[in-house]
Amino acid sequence: MPRKLSNPFSSSTMPQSERAAERRPSRSGGNRLAGFFSSKAKEQQQAMLLQQQQQQQLVSPGNPSPNSPLPTISLSAATGGELNTDETPTTLFEPPSADEAKLQERRDAQFGPLLNPSHLYVSAHQGKPLEAPIEDEPAYYFVLTTYISYLLLIFFGHARDFFGKRFGDKKHYQSLKVFNGYAPLNDDFDNFYVRRLKLRLDDCFARPTTGVPGRYITLIDRKSDDFNRTYKYTGTHTQTLNVSSYNYLGFAQSEGPCADAVEECVRKSGLSYASPRADSGTSELSQEVEREIAQFVGKPAAMVFSMGFVTNAGSFPALVSKGCLILSDELNHASIRIGARLSGAVIRSFKHNNMEDLEKKLREAISQGQPRTHRPWKKILVAVEGLYSMEGTMVDLPGVLALKKKYKFFLYVDEAHSVGALGPRGRGVCDYFGIDPAECDILMGTLTKSFGANGGYIAAEKHIIDGLRMTNAATLLGESPTPSVLMQILTSLRMITGELAPGQGEERLQRLAFNSRYLRLGLKRLGFITYGHDDSPIIPIVLYHPGKMSAFSHEMLKRKISVVVVGYPATPLISSRARFCVSAAHNKEDMDRILAACDEVGSILQLKYSTGIAGGQEPLPEGVTAETEKEWRRANGLEGVVKPPRWRLEDVLERGVQDSKEQLR
Ligand SMILES: Cc1ncc(COP(=O)(O)O)c(C=O)c1O
Repeated sequence: MPRKLSNPFSSSTMPQSERAAERRPSRSGGNRLAGFFSSKAKEQQQAMLLQQQQQQQLVSPGNPSPNSPLPTISLSAATGGELNTDETPTTLFEPPSADEAKLQERRDAQFGPLLNPSHLYVSAHQGKPLEAPIEDEPAYYFVLTTYISYLLLIFFGHARDFFGKRFGDKKHYQSLKVFNGYAPLNDDFDNFYVRRLKLRLDDCFARPTTGVPGRYITLIDRKSDDFNRTYKYTGTHTQTLNVSSYNYLGFAQSEGPCADAVEECVRKSGLSYASPRADSGTSELSQEVEREIAQFVGKPAAMVFSMGFVTNAGSFPALVSKGCLILSDELNHASIRIGARLSGAVIRSFKHNNMEDLEKKLREAISQGQPRTHRPWKKILVAVEGLYSMEGTMVDLPGVLALKKKYKFFLYVDEAHSVGALGPRGRGVCDYFGIDPAECDILMGTLTKSFGANGGYIAAEKHIIDGLRMTNAATLLGESPTPSVLMQILTSLRMITGELAPGQGEERLQRLAFNSRYLRLGLKRLGFITYGHDDSPIIPIVLYHPGKMSAFSHEMLKRKISVVVVGYPATPLISSRARFCVSAAHNKEDMDRILAACDEVGSILQLKYSTGIAGGQEPLPEGVTAETEKEWRRANGLEGVVKPPRWRLEDVLERGVQDSKEQLR
């Protein structure tokens, strides 16, 4: 509804329209000749005309709402004299209503506003060979006490199992004993870590949530009175800052172009195709999605699956078989391992991202051929990931491709975490390194992370995709991706490319790259040992002691921040860690909040193990440049002195924006 405005320069409360009507006769009845020569009269006439025009504009129904988000200006003070405190303040533009404010709050909770255009960065490799990230070592004391923690856990755990099985509560130990002639289904050694370690930290895992896992995530509070065996809901909710979801580009939103398109699609196409792809589960939409994915990643053809795990588990058996060799990075995801095992091919692993070890294994495999017969391998397939989710490291793709040219193997790249998250256009590791995707034979990715959807894809030459369609068990027997999921993929993809909401996709990519670098540098400077490359949006910090996993998770939760903690067997025994999963939905304020919380918690729990070396050297004093540094050092007796800096939080925040975009000294 258009609103009328009161005249700010009059204390009268009479509506303007009435006053205008009141003045009109006096104008028409005035001396026109005098009016013609009098500038004052002319000004009055113009002011009146302007007033009428404004009034007409305000009452016309086509006008934009006066509730538009302009600053609220209090005009009650504009009397030219004293502030009239008796009068209720009149505002030109009303502040947003309670409903509007709530809506905006919800939007901001899902995707935070960008606070400054300088908080952007383009994710791209700088051209030099990919260096292994600087990895700091903790003091021996921490390593030793970590081993002692595990030794105590193992000793007391087994002692409790031994006596528990004989004298303990039947409820807890029955499944570990021979019962009624049946062997125990759960061997006590098999699930030792689940019972003795994970159960104790279990409230840090799989916390129930409600709403979308965006910038914030809402936890459904629960408590346990029996050491995490069962939980009771308290009936309350806690909203926390979310660094625990793979929501890289912030597409976990319940409104916006994606949600609108999905809603429309559900109305049109329903909830499910209720059939595998090979029967009637293939629609125009699925074909369109496949075409767009292929184009996006730079391959001639692609096919989509309803689950990322199944994409790997089903595709390896369709690509390789008995007589073939799979050389797999030792830290590859479980889905690759399972797919590789199902294929029947021989599997050998090489050290994580270690090109010398890969070359050694290749030479050995090629020279020796198949076991026993020494026949040549039918195919050799090297399987790597674009970005490793536990380590935050990127594959050394230029290094792998150099070996591929030399030894002629097929290359399978799992881009589950790199597609959408790396590269200036978000197209994954090839985009990041500026490499033609044609050089990789198979590009696999998941749609669960950057696209806010679900499922996976394989992109390759058309004949490979055609072959996969015929032989892949997931296509022949598995469920097909649902229309809503396909639409979410399509819309988010089009936003990333800029076809939809131009500029938004690019901003999301650059916000993610900035946030990742900013947070990582800050953590390093505060004294944490981080793993992985600087441009990775996954930032693990090492906690070492198993007990610190739950302590860190609880301390962060107290500060209303949700983090993921990971320990053995998902990591090596010694290096339990917390992982921060950064998103484009975060802004610098969020990163600062995490840094401040980590600074506090890091001091309480003694987590600042680093020597500080990975955070770069301290900036030179004003007036000293890289060229004059040597001279300055000599003059100040600092020659050869390398002081690994440990930064104060204030300095980290002050220098972070600038330093995170530069190569460190
Ligand atoms: C490297 C890698 N590949 C495949 C998958 C499986 O994807 P999804 O969770 O969509 O089934 C994951 C899961 O996180 C992953 O990290």
